[in-house]
Amino acid sequence: MCGIIAYTGQRQCKELLFQGLRKLEYRGYDSAGLSVLSNGHIELVRAVGNLDSLEKELEGDGCTGAHAGLGHTRWATHGRPSTANAHPHLDCTGKISIVLNGIIENYQDLREKLTAEGHKFTSETDAEVVSHLVEKHYDGDLVEATRLSIGEISGHYAFCVIHSGHPDLIVGARKECPLLIGVGEGENFIASAIPAFLSETRDVMVIGDDEMVVMTPDGVQILDLDKQPLDREITRVSWNADAAEKGGYETFMRKEIYEQPDSLTDTLAGRLPAGGGIVLEELAIPDKELAKIDKVYIVACGTSYHAGLVGRYVLENWARVAVELDVASEFRYRDPVLSPTTLVVGISQSGETADTLAAMRQARSQGARVLAITNIMGSQATRDADGILYTRAGLEIGVAATKTHVAQIAAIQLLALYLAQIRQTMDPKEISEVAAELKSIPDLMRNYLKNEASAYEIAKRYYQQPFFLYLGRGVGLPVCLEGALKLKEISYIPTEAYAAGEMKHGPIALLDKGSPVVVVANDGHVYEKVVSNIEEVRARRASVIAVATEGNERIKSLSDDVMYIPRTSEMLSPLLSVVPLQLLAYYIAQLKGCNVDQPRNLAKTVTVE
Ligand code: F6R
Repeated sequence: MCGIIAYTGQRQCKELLFQGLRKLEYRGYDSAGLSVLSNGHIELVRAVGNLDSLEKELEGDGCTGAHAGLGHTRWATHGRPSTANAHPHLDCTGKISIVLNGIIENYQDLREKLTAEGHKFTSETDAEVVSHLVEKHYDGDLVEATRLSIGEISGHYAFCVIHSGHPDLIVGARKECPLLIGVGEGENFIASAIPAFLSETRDVMVIGDDEMVVMTPDGVQILDLDKQPLDREITRVSWNADAAEKGGYETFMRKEIYEQPDSLTDTLAGRLPAGGGIVLEELAIPDKELAKIDKVYIVACGTSYHAGLVGRYVLENWARVAVELDVASEFRYRDPVLSPTTLVVGISQSGETADTLAAMRQARSQGARVLAITNIMGSQATRDADGILYTRAGLEIGVAATKTHVAQIAAIQLLALYLAQIRQTMDPKEISEVAAELKSIPDLMRNYLKNEASAYEIAKRYYQQPFFLYLGRGVGLPVCLEGALKLKEISYIPTEAYAAGEMKHGPIALLDKGSPVVVVANDGHVYEKVVSNIEEVRARRASVIAVATEGNERIKSLSDDVMYIPRTSEMLSPLLSVVPLQLLAYYIAQLKGCNVDQPRNLAKTVTVE
């Protein structure tokens, strides 16, 4: 939520900062801005809306010639999107500028105190207090002023600050919000995420919680809050800078849908060895402990929660372990019953979602073992967990998650098989059979995507409908929940997703002649039950769009439209059945003229609760 970039070096920073923001735009696009150190003063340019507006503002000489500065793209929390509320913010003297991601929880108190001391605020944001605090504490030493300011703020944040009296100095700090350093030669970067500087350097240093960074073109120093220097390794990331480009696709979301077979191959790579068994190297929790686990508790938000729902079915079915599941924002404020024999699995693509991190921390403080399933190496989730299972889906830019979701499903399937192996709830032959089938899914998906033609035609028939109902049972239910979320978030069409058996307890009242009802009706042990629900829908003259297993001819006579997916065993089917629903949502949103990569009001990484 909100993207930050800072640069100091020999090159002109305007374009570097702007291009960095382009890579961070998925984190928010309510407004954007730059502040640069230019001939002893700070030059500020801001604009409401996405980066195209800022680009227009920057046309001409704006910010040209400077070699150090800050950039920000905003997802509004405190204060509506407006130029005044856009970052960077200035202090009263115009000599100090800050960009911030996160929330300053005590900003009201601070603002009142600072106002009483004579500071003049120009925005409604919580962030602006930081620039005034630095101003208040500044006595020639920007690092000390920043340190004293940190001592007064509470909340979670990552911020960077510059001062016109220090032409090449950037000071940054973080607490529970992401901030990384890109180490270059004679130049350095700070950013919320690696893609912001990936085209310039792959050498990355992580800034920890309650740490500060002091950065000039010649060096980077990480300090604790007593200003003691801390050692930090430089990691070279293997990501390819092209990953953040559309590569010939019209949108990131479409590219990422089509990358799913490759992502899945990477998720599985090395984990299903030819000799048999499941190998999960980073798991780090000893098998002895995993064998004693008597409950798995999954916590996640949004699409990741839907992957967790699939996890419930496979963990119960394969590993025969009790599974509970909750959205992280509820879990963290309940009083969950956990013990050292509970395995809490936090699923988070970004590894930075505030609620999921809080739920994981709470679980750890109650003595549970915590495992993070995440896509981002070095993210906060990996530091708050006892063990890690990386999804390895590659960089995802589209705000609506697609390839990372499929990778999360595969990761939790691997975990379930691994627990089944340790707990001996499946015999090795059975595990090998599932593993072999799992390995075949990327090719099935690749073929499916190559030949898929029905989703666009169906989208054309239904895209003007005001409401969609999604129904499914068993592992088809999480797929429906995900399909419905995808459609609502990128097309703004209201959707409901329901357990098909629950339909007659309420949602059936919504159905009328022609109402589109998407039903996940794959072959499996609940197939006949789903067919009964389809009949109930048809009796209300609603239109049925079925996702069904290739070869099922009967479904054609029961539905208005069918999207066939390749045949798999039931527990693996979500990997494939979610894909036509992603495509359906995608085409409907495109036909409605929506910006699928930047749906309104959303941000990809939700670092505030
Ligand atoms: C929807 C979507 C969100 C995220 C949710 C959790 O397409 O992407 O619902 O799944 O915000 O994010 P992570 O997985 O980063 O914790």
